Amino acid sequence: MARILITSALPYINGVKHLGNLAGSMLPADVFARFQRLMGEEVLFICATDEHGTPAELAAVEAGQSVEEYCLEQHEIQARIAKGFQLSFDWFGRSSSQANRELTQAFADRLEDAGLIEERTSRQVYSIDDGRFLPDRYVEGTCPSCGYEKARGDQCDGCGRLLDPVDLINPYSAVSGSRRVEIRDTQHLFLLQSRMQDRIRAWVDERAGAWPQLTSSIAYKWLDEGLQDRSITRDLSWGVPVSRNGHPRPGFETKVYYVWFDAPIEYIGATREWAEATGGNWERWWRTDKGAEDVTYVEFMGKDNVAFHTVSFPATLLGSGEPWKLVDRLKAFNWLTWYGGKFSTSQKRGVFMDAALELLPADYWRWFLTANAPEGSDAPFTWEAFQNSVNSDLANVLGNFVNRITRYAQSKFDGRVPLEGEPGADEAWIEGELAQRLPALIAHYQAMDFRKAAAETRAIWAAGNEYLTRAEPWVKYKTSVEASAVGVRTGLNLAALFGVIAQPIIPAAAESILSALGVPPEARSFRFGDPRSCLDALPRGSAITAPPVLFAKIEDTQTADWRVRFGGG
Ligand code: 2FM
Ligand code: ZN
Repeated sequence: MARILITSALPYINGVKHLGNLAGSMLPADVFARFQRLMGEEVLFICATDEHGTPAELAAVEAGQSVEEYCLEQHEIQARIAKGFQLSFDWFGRSSSQANRELTQAFADRLEDAGLIEERTSRQVYSIDDGRFLPDRYVEGTCPSCGYEKARGDQCDGCGRLLDPVDLINPYSAVSGSRRVEIRDTQHLFLLQSRMQDRIRAWVDERAGAWPQLTSSIAYKWLDEGLQDRSITRDLSWGVPVSRNGHPRPGFETKVYYVWFDAPIEYIGATREWAEATGGNWERWWRTDKGAEDVTYVEFMGKDNVAFHTVSFPATLLGSGEPWKLVDRLKAFNWLTWYGGKFSTSQKRGVFMDAALELLPADYWRWFLTANAPEGSDAPFTWEAFQNSVNSDLANVLGNFVNRITRYAQSKFDGRVPLEGEPGADEAWIEGELAQRLPALIAHYQAMDFRKAAAETRAIWAAGNEYLTRAEPWVKYKTSVEASAVGVRTGLNLAALFGVIAQPIIPAAAESILSALGVPPEARSFRFGDPRSCLDALPRGSAITAPPVLFAKIEDTQTADWRVRFGGG
């Protein structure tokens, strides 16, 4: 049994995420975790909310809550929605946990022991009226590069450039709006990434062969530009306090570690939270001196996160000098767009995760977002494509098949898997299809090609429909019950197989099919026997039922209504 550690990029705490965040990390990570469990592998699937940093503090102020209260409430909301989407995390942690605090402080200590952290004086925007420094998004102003007037201190929404707050023109405080700001000196800790350039390049060289092009090109772009030392502390109160060997660090009492320093450490932190809650052994997954050398570690994320995961987080892990597990396979996604543009709450563009679940059950979204994953390039969400894919793939190709064959077995074969009849030419045809398609399906999943895995799943469902068109058990029934019986038995077994292969992407519908057909858990795995045995797996004579309607078609009146509410077209 292989051991596979899977992490999804941690969603920011500030507000419910949109479908793009789901499609570009949490959902594919879940589909992959489910697939690997069905292959019989030992999987640990970890996620958490990313709770520190200025966006969280600013959102709390806006909500009129303390930041602790705000984060707790938002964490619970995100956890509930994740459950609603059937994201099968073994643990959904919080980067503000005690476990992460301890780990983050310990990493900083190890890095400093290794001579890789230095105190430096840096220039920061200070607000006289607020009586505080204004890091990152706490300061806004005009972008020095494109002139956009509401650029945030860390990044410009006008041109997308990363910024240094002190470079903003006409800066003002995002807290109070005050323009009485000046530049003052302040002490910060810098991680000396420039000294780790060679070590990180050697490590990337070792791994990048197994990474997709999108991932390795981003890693090499950063390495080729030369790694910069980066400040890993901020003048903020919300975050992991800066310490040295277990004590507050003198001169840093009002500072915390930068959110991008502690966030990836929370992958380990959340594993520790999991271990504390379940009695599991977290070191077995993360310490190569404690068993993690056998682990394959797979990360999922949007392309904007790749540099942090191929360079910055590895710098933390390698620089510590300790035997930590580093990423083996990294799957990055492009953007899911809303009709080619950005999702935006304020402009009512796009569906957010909570609203999506109010419209339709999770499977509808899970299917579309997997079959149309923004894998090779950005991919648009449109109501037209969504409606089309649900109505055709789910309602017609899968739903009708299962419905038709189970109802027919109920009405003509007493609700049992028929006993009689021997396979003939039509069964040989579908056997041949499965012999070729099931291994292809597994190969696509192993390669983490999610669009291809969904397309192959659909192709297998479609082949089943083609089989029934050829075998016509309803026509044969009139002349030979025995000939009809083979077709119905094969059809019921195909329905069961369709349920099995549907599990990673549409788990609720799969469960409904498999329980209606009485398929026990041990018969639901992806370790398929030979196709002939797949077609005779349900015990002959066993009772089956028809599942409730699996997927309702989406009507034009519904999409018309949704277009008004969420935009589009
Ligand atoms: O980009 C984001 O949404 C970040 N919250 C991802 C963090 S991933 C990890 F490093 F914590
Ligand atoms: Zn700009």
